[in-house]
Amino acid sequence: MAKETLTIKDNRTGKTYEVPIQDGSIRTAELRKIKVSDDDFGLLGYDPALMNTASCKSKVTYIDGDNGILRYRGYDIADLADNSNYLETAYLIVKGELPDSQRLKAWTHNIKMHTMVHENIRKFMDGFRYDAHPMGMIMGTVAAMSTFYPDAKDVEDLQSRRLQTRRLIGKLPTISAFAYRQMRGLPFVYPDNELSYTGNFLQMLFKIAGNYTPDPVIERALEVLFILHADHEQNCSANAVRAVGSSLVDPYSAVASGIGALYGPRHGGANEAVVQMLTKIGSVKNVAKAIKSFKSGEDRLMGFGHRIYKAYDPRGKIIKKLADEVFEVTGKNKLIDIALELERIALQDEYFVERRLYPNVDFYTGIIYQAIGFPTTMFPVLFAIPRTSGWLAQWSEMVRDPEQKITRPRQLYIGEDLREYAPIKGRPKPSDREDKVAEVI
Ligand code: ACO
Repeated sequence: MAKETLTIKDNRTGKTYEVPIQDGSIRTAELRKIKVSDDDFGLLGYDPALMNTASCKSKVTYIDGDNGILRYRGYDIADLADNSNYLETAYLIVKGELPDSQRLKAWTHNIKMHTMVHENIRKFMDGFRYDAHPMGMIMGTVAAMSTFYPDAKDVEDLQSRRLQTRRLIGKLPTISAFAYRQMRGLPFVYPDNELSYTGNFLQMLFKIAGNYTPDPVIERALEVLFILHADHEQNCSANAVRAVGSSLVDPYSAVASGIGALYGPRHGGANEAVVQMLTKIGSVKNVAKAIKSFKSGEDRLMGFGHRIYKAYDPRGKIIKKLADEVFEVTGKNKLIDIALELERIALQDEYFVERRLYPNVDFYTGIIYQAIGFPTTMFPVLFAIPRTSGWLAQWSEMVRDPEQKITRPRQLYIGEDLREYAPIKGRPKPSDREDKVAEVI
């Protein structure tokens, strides 16, 4: 039988090393044994952007990018989108199993008990400028929440972790809706726990005066969108939450760092870019010309391509169907025709076929959000609310994992060797090279 090991020969010394293979990986720490002399530090793995490094073992989310598969805790994303709601899926993600009806009732109750925020948080949010980006507002507010809950510091205590998890999942819609109302100059609307998770969110956003009844189609569409965005294994923001959380800081600080990571245009901002691109294309008759510019490298077809998926993003398929249901209520967003034509042409075009570029989750979400009435700056917020359950599941897994320590990668130092400090008067004029460095910074 073949051995589950890797033999490495170091041609510098002629020595060979046998490294165990487990779960399709080697422990890169094994490479440290490979040395040219006793005082050699040992070999490092160099992996910028961690493209080929597994940084943890996880039981939360499984992705098979070649076959377009996404599962939470073993359940297929399409199955959950068809049959579950966000809070049940959040329970599954955080706790590992689907709840029975009693547990679901208790979980839902416990989350709803935490939808209200301290009045000082409301006042804190009042302080943001009228044009503050809502992601900046929720990032700052979640970080500030750590000062309201000093008990959250006890990250190794199960009861404390449970309480902060419920608080964060419960309060994210509230502070997100407050951020929206702040942008609009509207008074904040307090939570209504008689409503569902998304129904309550909608009323906190859109209630103007008197009674507000969320449209059941929009309410359900948001539930599905929240399910689809709840986790996505070791993406940039999950990695940020794990890395920051590995210092054993409280989860509000760790989740705030995840919101920061998600804020960036290479992560949570692509759906906004899709809407801008479709608006710029303007009409179905301009699609062929636009495709040419994507192929020449002049522009990118936003919402297409993915680092992991080399097939149709399974979330994209579900969202495309959802768009029609939402448009029945909101009226059709005309951008959908441009999007459909772009997809139709791209999926037949050699350039996109060869590179295995398919629509990703962001291709259709922005069109739906816009139809519901969200400004583009709210799009990443609609990602952050449901992703909170994923971040907390990843964080809790990290805290409980006996193999995890404070995250601290190595570097390959390529800077100057030892130099002697020169007093300012006697310093030589900057060389050309130093001038260039100054320009870069
Ligand atoms: N339009 C046109 N060409 C593309 C696109 C695109 N959207 N995406 C990739 N390509 C081409 C690249 O030019 C490159 O071509 P080449 O081999 O001739 O140089 C090839 O496909 C591979 O592209 P990379 O950038 O190396 O692929 P990578 O895995 O690094 O990038 C990414 C993935 C960033 C998502 C990329 O496909 C992209 O920029 N897409 C548009 C932005 C987008 O939709 N982002 C959202 C991703 S989903 C999410 O984060 C939630």
